[in-house]
Amino acid sequence: MAEIERVGVVGAGLMGSGIAEVNARAGLRVTVAEVGDSAVEAGRSRIRGSLDRGVERGKISADDRGAAWDNIGFTTSLADLGDRDLVIEAAAEDEDIKTRVFGELDEAVGGSEAVLASNTSSIPIAKLAAATQRPQHVIGMHFFNPVPVLKLVELVPSLLTSAETVQRVTDFATDRLGKESIRAQDRSGFVVNALLVPYLLSAIRMVEAGTAAAEDIDNGMVLGCAHPMGPLRLADMVGLDTVKAIADSMYAEYKDPNCAAPPLLQRMVDAGLWGKKSGQGFYSYT
Ligand code: 3HC
Repeated sequence: MAEIERVGVVGAGLMGSGIAEVNARAGLRVTVAEVGDSAVEAGRSRIRGSLDRGVERGKISADDRGAAWDNIGFTTSLADLGDRDLVIEAAAEDEDIKTRVFGELDEAVGGSEAVLASNTSSIPIAKLAAATQRPQHVIGMHFFNPVPVLKLVELVPSLLTSAETVQRVTDFATDRLGKESIRAQDRSGFVVNALLVPYLLSAIRMVEAGTAAAEDIDNGMVLGCAHPMGPLRLADMVGLDTVKAIADSMYAEYKDPNCAAPPLLQRMVDAGLWGKKSGQGFYSYT
């Protein structure tokens, strides 16, 4: 089976741009697909900014930044990903959008042995695989934000993923990307979000109940439990729209009230207060 050398990334948002950067830094040729020119421009400057930060922090040399940058191309057509060995979908956390993307990617890669992976946090991989004619080559490959900094990738085979695909992607994640992988079953939230999201929702319920202010809750977990950041700042960083989308998927799967999005979260999402990406969430980023 061919080595994975050419990678496609669908979506250049927070996660997609980080995934593209990590692949390009590992020497892979990356094509990033976005829906239009302004989304391409936003993704381009996000990746550029992160590569610059990597140089400022002494994590990569200026030469490596140049090489990584040269490895990345952009397109607005999924059909341009037809020659890829691996495509990692990182579109919005919305089942309809992801299913449509998988259908189009399936057509684009045709009868090749390409792997189609999803960075979904909570949507069943089996549903995405069912949108294709190649479910044996479909797998969950879930990265963590900020992708260039955090070492983990969750690998999530569906009931139909072949053992060969699992091995191929495991080797790729560790040997080529230098990540650590864990394996999880195809259950909403997998391992990390199944534990993390109820915790974030509990913190939001605490704000809602007036138990403590956001800053005090966050300081409690940073200073009292040595977490790198508190749950409300973390929810802002992940994006409150994304937190709600993951909570909704987990609630649909488990019917567990701990996974139900509290009204405050729903209203903040309705109001466009999506956290860091919109400039305002539990904190202000202007
Ligand atoms: N490239 C490479 N390295 C970089 C970098 C870049 N672009 N930007 C920063 N770094 C490095 C820094 O050099 C530093 O490395 P060091 O520890 O060796 O010195 C390290 O990353 C930390 O960077 P900073 O000093 O800028 O920032 P902080 O120390 O304040 O840490 C943080 C920021 C990494 C975001 C930290 O607060 C953190 O880890 N927070 C928790 C994040 C988390 O939990 N993420 C998971 C979210 S859940 C998710 O993603 C799943 C999804 O489905 C919802």
